[in-house]
Amino acid sequence: MLTIRVNGAIHRLDVDPDTPLLWVLREQLELTGVKYSCGIEECGACTVHVDGKATLSCNLSASEVVGKEITTIEGLKGPVADALREAWMEGDVPQCGFCQPGQLMTAAALLRTNPNPSDADIDTAMSYVLCRCGTYQGIRNAIHQAARRYKHGK
Ligand code: FES
Ligand code: FES
Repeated sequence: MLTIRVNGAIHRLDVDPDTPLLWVLREQLELTGVKYSCGIEECGACTVHVDGKATLSCNLSASEVVGKEITTIEGLKGPVADALREAWMEGDVPQCGFCQPGQLMTAAALLRTNPNPSDADIDTAMSYVLCRCGTYQGIRNAIHQAARRYKHGK
């Protein structure tokens, strides 16, 4: 038995402690916003927050997150998340959408620690989240837009 906290709720789960967090989220908790792609920490599709930090969940065992706060795209909320969602919609950022939960989770972690990021800050923070559709410029613009909204809204 393993007890983990996800999106503010406590879950007691009968899983092998070595199970990657990604599979616990997707299969046990049905939080399918977190995506599986490479499985080897190369694409960023599986990004969630662990204690507020953007973290890849495909190679992180469930036992490693006991006692920590896990947030998935389904539980991402607050002023930064609102500003990002609005900017994403305004900028019509997603194409196929597959990578976008990982992009948004990474962008949210960035803006919470750096509310006024430069292009270079954005490129560095977002560099490990790949997008086959090439939405990088739209993502960068949307993060700047969200930063402006967040600044004026708070
Ligand atoms: S599925 Fe985790 S980084 Fe690709
Ligand atoms: S929007 Fe299609 S992979 Fe990024």
